[in-house]
Amino acid sequence: MAFRRTNWCGEITRKNIGEDVLLAGWVQGRRDHGGLLFIDLRDRSGVVQLVFDLERHGELFQEAEKLRSEYVLAIKGKVIARSPETVNPRLASGEIEINVEAMEVLNRSQVPPFYIEDNIDTDENLRLRYRYLDLRRPEMQEMLRLRHCLFMAVRRCLDERGFLEVDTPMLTRSTPEGARDYLVPSRTAPGHFYALPQSPQLFKQLLMVSGVERYFQLARCFRDEDLRADRQPEFTQIDLELSFCSREEIMAEVELLVSRLFREVLDLDLKTPFATISYAEAMERYGSDKPDTRFGLELKDISEIAGESAFKVFNHAVAQGGSVKGINVKGGAAFSRKELDDLTALVQSWGTGGLAWMVVTEEGFKTPIAKFFTDDQLERIRQSMAGVNGDLFLFVADEKDNAQKILGQLRLHLARRLNLIPAGEHRLLWVLDFPLLVYDREEKRFTANHHPFTAPREEDIPLLETEPLKVRSLAYDLVYNGVEIAGGSIRIHRRELQETVFKLLGLTQTEIEDKFGFLLEAFKYGAPPHGGIAFGFDRLLMLMSDRKSIRDVIPFPKTAAGSCLLTGAPAPVSPHQLSELHIYTISRK
Ligand code: AMO
Ligand code: AMP
Repeated sequence: MAFRRTNWCGEITRKNIGEDVLLAGWVQGRRDHGGLLFIDLRDRSGVVQLVFDLERHGELFQEAEKLRSEYVLAIKGKVIARSPETVNPRLASGEIEINVEAMEVLNRSQVPPFYIEDNIDTDENLRLRYRYLDLRRPEMQEMLRLRHCLFMAVRRCLDERGFLEVDTPMLTRSTPEGARDYLVPSRTAPGHFYALPQSPQLFKQLLMVSGVERYFQLARCFRDEDLRADRQPEFTQIDLELSFCSREEIMAEVELLVSRLFREVLDLDLKTPFATISYAEAMERYGSDKPDTRFGLELKDISEIAGESAFKVFNHAVAQGGSVKGINVKGGAAFSRKELDDLTALVQSWGTGGLAWMVVTEEGFKTPIAKFFTDDQLERIRQSMAGVNGDLFLFVADEKDNAQKILGQLRLHLARRLNLIPAGEHRLLWVLDFPLLVYDREEKRFTANHHPFTAPREEDIPLLETEPLKVRSLAYDLVYNGVEIAGGSIRIHRRELQETVFKLLGLTQTEIEDKFGFLLEAFKYGAPPHGGIAFGFDRLLMLMSDRKSIRDVIPFPKTAAGSCLLTGAPAPVSPHQLSELHIYTISRK
């Protein structure tokens, strides 16, 4: 290239009129108006319009006619005002254009497989296959910019708050987040494997034993689990750990960080402290441990009345120790019989017996199960559900946990369908007091609700011996518009309590030594009380930038099947590589 550029395309405005500029970029598009040719030149900052005039430019005009989309170009020219009728108010550079004096084609381009512009209706797999072209589009450039801003804001804020950024190994041992590990075979130790970290959990706790006191890392984590719109096999965490802090102090520190990120990246002020809700209340009212509180449709319990009624499905469930819970769909009387049947089929597919419905009308209740209820019972149901004319009640009778879970899903389904979720809201909510343990019915044993290092509430410790499922933990999740964006806890820092918990989880002494011996050993040497949290960085960015999928905020994501369409990973390797790693593969039919 014969000349060095002087300006960014998108930043040239009427202030620059009369200046000579040198620009470089890609051909966004061209418009041919007979003797007049307009080329949009795009660089990272935006586009600027180049003009070529047959009469004035002669040979250069003919050169320009050969330009095609995505050709790489350098030009020299003068900034001139556009004539009033050609001003484009949507562009920063819309009041000017460049009268080109010299031009160099730096590279040609094949016709790209899709248009390099926003809102393209292109198959996502094609975008992923040509991700480098997809990333040229302005909305993707904006995503990269936002991602960078968020990284920088995290680092600035945590640095100011006295956190040290410490990096931890990628080649390590299996960690206990509960997903499947990605394994890396060792060449030098046949039959031995490293695991890629599911999180830096154990290292950050060891760093507390090392006296780091305030640690953070923008950590890459790897989990082999079923993927969804908000899950990737490889993702980034903002990982924190602090010593000598109470749960409340850690929560306050996190609120400071989150508010700062919102202010710096979105120019938004969040109200602090964030709202809190206990796990039990979240399940009761929203049927979810990550409730979306931007809309109502809360769950109500009518078990008492249902138990007295003559409706078998209801009184049977209650007699079995279950519950009957429901939601009130305001104005839901408009639902057709077919729509109600479809909703019933939907909840059945989620795993419950069915859905009972009642509509409140001027003349009383419209419902196929009216005959099983006395007028008094119906009136009490109406009051419990705060029903008025035109409302639709939907009930599920089941074991309490399942009734809540199903109605929680139904609540979200209906909110989306009925457009009840207000746009532009940013609801941050702490969920507290999770049960420390859950019972795995299939495996017939307790498992850790978060991970095995989570501390129980002090006053619940005696229950570990008697009623382990009643023990509440010092864990906290941060939920943003119904998505879990962060989770953490105060940790167990005393060896004896840690061993008790490991044993409750069904680990034998040998397994404990084998898997976590190094941690327990470290705890012998003066481990301070500590706790921490990790944010799903990509999820946070997805929500902050109002995108639907985590793939839209990751530069090079994997598909839902876990493959990278750009490089073709995962891919076979040569027999030589396998033999060096002492690996034989067997093909499964
Ligand atoms: P946890 O397993 O809850 O905690 O993970 C923390 C946060 O990471 C995000 N996340 C994911 N994001 C994208 N794709 C995934 N597959 C994925 N899995 C999790 C979520 C989640 O809230 N070491 C503990 C934290 C701690 O106790 O300090 C941990 O990793 O937003
Ligand atoms: P059945 O007696 O199975 O024909 O069901 C009568 C009505 O009760 C139908 O509308 C079912 O959808 C509904 N129903 C069945 N099981 C349940 C349940 N577990 N909870 C709520 N309603 C149910």
